[in-house]
Amino acid sequence: MTPLLEAARITKRFPGTVALDDVQFELRRGEIHALMGENGAGKSTLMKILSGVYTADSGEVRFEGRPVAAGNPHQALQLGIAIVHQELSVVRPLTVAENIFPGRLPTNRWGMVNYNKLFNDAGRVLEQLQVRIDPRQTMDRLSIATQQLVEIAKALSLNCKVLILDEPTSALTEREAEILLDLLRRLAANGTGIVYISHKLDEVFKLADRVTVLRDGHYIGTKVIAETTPDEVIRMMVGRELSDLYPARSAGQGKPLLEVRNLRLPGQAVGNSFQLYAGEVLGIAGLIGSGRTELARAIFGADPIEAGEILMEGQPVRITSPSQAIKLGLGYLPEDRKAAGLFLDMAVKLNIEAANLPEVTQGGFISSRREKSLAEHYVRQLNISTPGIEQEVRRLSGGNQQKTLVAKWLSIQPRILIVDEPTRGIDVGAKREIHYLLRSLAQNNVGVIMISSELPEILGMSDRILVMHAGQIVAELDGGTATEEQIMTYASGQPVQDR
Ligand SMILES: Nc1ncnc2c1ncn2[C@@H]1O[C@H](COP(=O)(O)OP(=O)(O)OP(=O)(O)O)[C@@H](O)[C@H]1O
Ligand SMILES: [Mg+2]
Repeated sequence: MTPLLEAARITKRFPGTVALDDVQFELRRGEIHALMGENGAGKSTLMKILSGVYTADSGEVRFEGRPVAAGNPHQALQLGIAIVHQELSVVRPLTVAENIFPGRLPTNRWGMVNYNKLFNDAGRVLEQLQVRIDPRQTMDRLSIATQQLVEIAKALSLNCKVLILDEPTSALTEREAEILLDLLRRLAANGTGIVYISHKLDEVFKLADRVTVLRDGHYIGTKVIAETTPDEVIRMMVGRELSDLYPARSAGQGKPLLEVRNLRLPGQAVGNSFQLYAGEVLGIAGLIGSGRTELARAIFGADPIEAGEILMEGQPVRITSPSQAIKLGLGYLPEDRKAAGLFLDMAVKLNIEAANLPEVTQGGFISSRREKSLAEHYVRQLNISTPGIEQEVRRLSGGNQQKTLVAKWLSIQPRILIVDEPTRGIDVGAKREIHYLLRSLAQNNVGVIMISSELPEILGMSDRILVMHAGQIVAELDGGTATEEQIMTYASGQPVQDR
């Protein structure tokens, strides 16, 4: 049978990089085909070629057996090829509905936008995703997770034949991801071909029919999921065995580094209290909107607090701004690397030093020698794949952007480091590196708070786990014995039976 979409002998070069070298890919009708590979392997580039965003230097793309003109996103869309990009492209000042139907707003017979129809249509698409948001709302107040769902809704509204999703669940929690995966299964059952890029092996093994692996711009192979194993796929991706994905937990707790007492945010009825000890990784689990990020931002001085107390090493502190927090030895790696973390137009080295000017300044001037050695140290330590420290961050692959953000916060050598979804969009190998790095910080008596929506990561990394629901810490669990079910039960606010 003719494949639905096919790419043959695709080569694509960027200055200094061969992103794809003689790569092939095939998608069948009704198939969910996962595309995996390390950060920078060429996954997004290949999909941008299939959807006409980029033109390949050589090679051919065929849709239902017929060649597709290169570099024509409009034609690709008309053929029914829709893509949800890895990086959000929502227009924040517009409403949710306008973001779902850009350039396709329904009009009445006088040519005016029919807003009733627009909002109704948008509501129906959102319903499929079980997203409870008002289509009239503007995008700027939505969390990234919800913005991501709106992007997916936009692609769904096209009734496409090929749906390409580039890491769609990296900003979603387990439950939202489940809803999306169910929907994708239904679409595939109706004949849509789905390309699914993800770094989450468990998700790929639950969802996909086949998996294609790229490594360093090369095609490594395609496997039927039922006939392969996660270990084999990891081996294909990284070219070697990876054992012990999570580091061993630390021996014990040190002294309390941070104590939060009845910290209440504006609009909250009750405050939250907890302690962080030197040498531990404290995991914070919860659904999107459960208040994890808000709590972290408030501690970091990025948002105002209504009441409560924060003590660092037993001393009360008043943190009213992030720069003050940094001076006190507190680092915060935000969840939204684009909006809050990185300067995309600036070089890797400037991003790494951004939170750490004292380290690279000498007599009031930035010392380019120190700057270079600091940046190069972290590029090496985190294995950031870049042609050099002068490269603009926007030209790095998504995962390498995330590593640059991690480097920025490591460079201030914090005593307390709060990381919010630290391995979002990061490949298995790099993820393992970041996990070992966080653990080694803890072993050097740093207190680490890790917010994560990935339950295997929370369970694999945390010494203790706080679970949040509706702005409140509702449980404290032991990281060594907690289970996914236990966390989900608390996180969803269901009453927990005492045994
Ligand atoms: N616009 C660009 N300019 C220069 N180089 C680029 C550009 N886009 C991608 N690259 C480079 O091409 C290679 C492949 O990048 P790509 O974004 O396809 O990787 P990926 O597999 O999607 O990675 P990730 O898992 O991190 O998203 C990388 O080395 C990247 O730095
Ligand atoms: Mg990518």
